[in-house]
Amino acid sequence: MSLSIKNCRIIHNGKLISTNIFIDNGKITKIGGFVDADEILDAHNNIVLPGVIDPHVHFREPGFEYKEDLLSGSRAAAAGGATTFLDMPNTNPTTTTIEALQEKRELARKCVVNYGFHFGSSENNIDEIRKAANTASLKIYMNPTTGNMKLEDEGLLRDLFSSHNTIAVHAEDEMIRKAVDLSNTLKNKLYICHQSTKEGLDYINQNRGNILVETTPHHLFLTEEDQNQFVKMKPPLVTKQDQEALWQGIHEGSINTIGTDHAPHTISEKESGEFFGVPGVETSLPLLFNAVNKNMLSLQQLIELTSHNPARIFGIKNKGFIEQGFDADFVIVDPHLTKKVKNEELFTKCGWSPFNNWELEGWPITTIVNGNVVFEHGEVYDIKAREVVFNG
Ligand code: DOR
Ligand code: ZN
Ligand code: ZN
Repeated sequence: MSLSIKNCRIIHNGKLISTNIFIDNGKITKIGGFVDADEILDAHNNIVLPGVIDPHVHFREPGFEYKEDLLSGSRAAAAGGATTFLDMPNTNPTTTTIEALQEKRELARKCVVNYGFHFGSSENNIDEIRKAANTASLKIYMNPTTGNMKLEDEGLLRDLFSSHNTIAVHAEDEMIRKAVDLSNTLKNKLYICHQSTKEGLDYINQNRGNILVETTPHHLFLTEEDQNQFVKMKPPLVTKQDQEALWQGIHEGSINTIGTDHAPHTISEKESGEFFGVPGVETSLPLLFNAVNKNMLSLQQLIELTSHNPARIFGIKNKGFIEQGFDADFVIVDPHLTKKVKNEELFTKCGWSPFNNWELEGWPITTIVNGNVVFEHGEVYDIKAREVVFNG
């Protein structure tokens, strides 16, 4: 089946251009030229971006399906313009064995957007890590958080750092230094999740080897002044000054990706004050696009952070770019559609957002995954996606 998307505005060589995109069998076959295909979709001069790749989500399956599962999480992703997500290993069982990875792969077949997995580390799973094929990274928890996967033995950390091409860390405060130092000594690639403080970012920038840095929408748009039970997360919300350093990092290019750290918990769990994390996969793009409209970042920067860089860093085959030969994963954004985030309209099972009632300008209206429309007119269609392939 072939599809043409006509009247697109895309960023091409740094400039916004008007064009048509041709798709055959789920791949981009041509950009520009006459419109002709089995099906034609009119983008009405809205902005077509590479589908968002969310490198950091917790979709909770298996083990905690009452807060989210791989289908509900993937539907929320589609509504938020994310066409690929990389899921974290703190499920139950944890994704620390080949068997658990295989189970998650099977469970994920129901997803409506593409998926990949971070593998988890434990005290004794180096053999499993080495055998696990096609994983985004080895995730190491260096501080305590949801799932109790924290590891601290120095020798073990060294062995783990050497056991995968890409190490992703949950590291706060002094653990950021430790992770940076270890990666510089061992010369491996380090992906620092949810970087939130000026101090941490300064240390990274002063000691930067092969280090890639993620920040989150909640750290970019909320500060410690917004603190309440619902916005408790790890790492916590930061000061205005820290937040300014994060924005500066975005402008300078020292922050490479936006990962939502989508970490749903139920409303009653959050009310208890004992659960850390906020949902984010369906509000990230509207928050960032609204920020583009306010000149807080450029559209080119948004694309680098949300699609080009996650694809490059994790080596996701054929994704992250609107270019011939790449997979047809797009989000069409109406740049001036203005509406409020509404808890009751969200697709996430947890049913709430820290951004409830925020009025934002620039919303995804259509999401296309592997050449199929999966989200339009506020509805998500049940078309199955697939696991991504990590190069090398
Ligand atoms: O706040 C958090 N929630 N931080 C994490 O590192 C984990 C996450 C979760 O899975 O709930
Ligand atoms: Zn974390
Ligand atoms: Zn996380």
